[in-house]
Amino acid sequence: MNMTMNRATLFTPVQFGAMQLKHRVVMAPLTRSRSIQPDSIPGDLMAEYYAQRASEGGFIISEATNISVTSRGWLGAPGLYSDQQVEGWKKVVFGIHAKGGHIFAQLWHTGRSSHVDLTGGEMPVSASVDPAYWQNPSHLVSASSGWVQPSPHRALAIAEISLIVEDYRRAAERAMDAGFEGVELHAANG
Ligand SMILES: Cc1cc2nc3c(=O)[nH]c(=O)nc-3n(C[C@H](O)[C@H](O)[C@H](O)COP(=O)(O)O)c2cc1C
Repeated sequence: MNMTMNRATLFTPVQFGAMQLKHRVVMAPLTRSRSIQPDSIPGDLMAEYYAQRASEGGFIISEATNISVTSRGWLGAPGLYSDQQVEGWKKVVFGIHAKGGHIFAQLWHTGRSSHVDLTGGEMPVSASVDPAYWQNPSHLVSASSGWVQPSPHRALAIAEISLIVEDYRRAAERAMDAGFEGVELHAANG
């Protein structure tokens, strides 16, 4: 895509992979914490929110969406690891496509920025161990009891890395099942 953009080009079409966009105003991924809990399922509120923001030939990247229960680290973020979540996302995607818009799913593993409250009791995982991270009172995680310091994390064993890659692969497959046109990998939050 041409990065030297001005007002004249902003509202002109552009080919983006398989998508023919009618303009270049893309909606950035925005966590809204509105999935139905405790199973992180996109509901009617999310479908309404995304349909309101869809436009003919426009492109939206979804809010960060967890790839597994153990990848969770933000209360209310939706997931793409269960059949019910796929059904919920189908309604979201349908609303966007009905208005001629396009959407990718942003896939998320929150790493060490997590709490056992959200991971089904599993210790959060990261690439390495840094106790200063969970001891720092300025680091907070949105959990069911409110803003709390992250739980202590552990380092992934080498053999576990491919399991997480597999979770990403499966979530991407579920995204396709739900009608998304692509995925973006989110690599923030520790
Ligand atoms: C409420 C809120 C939620 C956000 N959620 C996400 C998110 O889920 N994934 C992500 O990659 N970025 C997220 N962001 C970052 C925005 O996408 C980012 O602010 C946007 O791309 C604009 O970039 P800028 O802040 O550098 O101008 C969020 C930002 C805000 C304000």
